Amino acid sequence: MVPRRDKAAAAGRARGSAPCLRKGEAESAAAGARTRAAAGADAAHLLPRRPLPAARALQPTCSRRAGPRPGGGSSVAPGGGCELTRPQTPKGGPSFGPSYPTFVPLCRTAWQGCGRNYRAALCAELKRPLVIEEVAPRPVQPHEVRVDVHFCGINFADILACHGQYQERHQLPFTPGMEFSGMVLETGTDVSTVKEGDRVIGLPGFNGMAEECIIDHMNLWQIPEKVSLREAAALPLSYGTAIFALEHRACTQPGETVLVTAAAGATGLAVIDVATNILQAKVIAAAGSDEKCQLAMQRGAQSSVNYSRGSLKEAVGKLVGSGGVNVVIDMVGGDVFLEALRSLAYEGRIVVVGFAGGTIASVPANLLLLKNATAMGLYLGRYWHQSFPIFSRRLSSALQYCQEGRIQPHIGEVFKLEEVNDAFLHITQRKSTGKVLLSLK
Ligand SMILES: NC(=O)c1ccc[n+]([C@@H]2O[C@H](COP(=O)([O-])OP(=O)(O)OC[C@H]3O[C@@H](n4cnc5c(N)ncnc54)[C@H](OP(=O)(O)O)[C@@H]3O)[C@@H](O)[C@H]2O)c1
Repeated sequence: MVPRRDKAAAAGRARGSAPCLRKGEAESAAAGARTRAAAGADAAHLLPRRPLPAARALQPTCSRRAGPRPGGGSSVAPGGGCELTRPQTPKGGPSFGPSYPTFVPLCRTAWQGCGRNYRAALCAELKRPLVIEEVAPRPVQPHEVRVDVHFCGINFADILACHGQYQERHQLPFTPGMEFSGMVLETGTDVSTVKEGDRVIGLPGFNGMAEECIIDHMNLWQIPEKVSLREAAALPLSYGTAIFALEHRACTQPGETVLVTAAAGATGLAVIDVATNILQAKVIAAAGSDEKCQLAMQRGAQSSVNYSRGSLKEAVGKLVGSGGVNVVIDMVGGDVFLEALRSLAYEGRIVVVGFAGGTIASVPANLLLLKNATAMGLYLGRYWHQSFPIFSRRLSSALQYCQEGRIQPHIGEVFKLEEVNDAFLHITQRKSTGKVLLSLK
């Protein structure tokens, strides 16, 4: 029996990968796409970014010598930028080794009237440890906001970007960090959406792993009263992804069974939280260790499978019988994806979210045919570019759910800025659970 309001969603599923849009969302999606197209937005970019001239684009993250130069003359580069000074990184060490002394005090003076220098993590060379630098602040543009960053979420994508393995390539050097929470310090003359002292989350695309971040006001969301800055930093990408994957792509219905892989990771636990507490679905958590399976169960999964112990398909079969699962949210790829695909029920939907295992599997199309199943992708950043009103509404939903106490992000570990390389290692060595944050305070 399909509830009336879900008939359109079911019809969408039957058509294939049509997203489930709430009332009015189709129109706003189209409007959003038109707006972004008109603004010349490049859909290949992951997250909010304004195309800046090269010299300016680097300003928030790089060290700049502002003092007098040998031989005289200004250190401010033509076009308003400053000379960039690369820090030295040790050669021959591991990609992301433990933290080592990283302070490179290069800044001499700040821009007049822009406040104190601040520290930022810098990727100066791909596949090398990040370094911590002092950065001289620059003035905010009329549409921009300066934020005192409290927490920055560390995402798998940050690590891939610092290895040059992400679909987005950043010009070196750059400061990673796609999401943060903090307090507004200063607003540009055209900004009326936030004011000094407001608590906000921001999606800068990169630049978040710094004590301060200058960001377009469009990429900020107010944090509701009952949500802490710590919790808020864990919401945007993980919960945004979970909500889009479960609601928008897979159109998950109450009572359906959802299989989630990498279930104890940041996105995995967010999927469990949203599926069980918002959508009233049943979750089978699949993870790589018994401890992770146990955590996933504590966070709401009804059952779990440790896929390092044997066939995921067989284990899921024992749990649900020949019927299979209605929805799969896969973060791992490779064989785990293929086994999850084979676990789908009639008219099941599998959402490709990531390839944490490092292998991109090919879809055997006959499996889709035999079960009238659907395989679909989810790339959160693409929604920002092409359907901003929907993206913004879903993110506001995550904040609202948290304010109401219906969801609760699990923060596994908080590292200090100077421990950023340890934090990266913690994630790549599969030791992390839930969200890993950097504390900038
Ligand atoms: N498409 C999008 O818009 C989007 C958005 C968010 C995230 N993602 C992607 O989704 C994936 C998970 O993201 P996340 O933030 O949840 O990451 P996370 O918290 O770091 O979790 C990643 C998990 O992947 C599993 N994994 C399996 N093989 C691995 C390997 N070889 N190396 C490292 N981890 C491995 C590990 O869990 P087990 O030990 O339990 O296997 C690990 O805990 C990433 O690929 C990320 O890029 C995509």
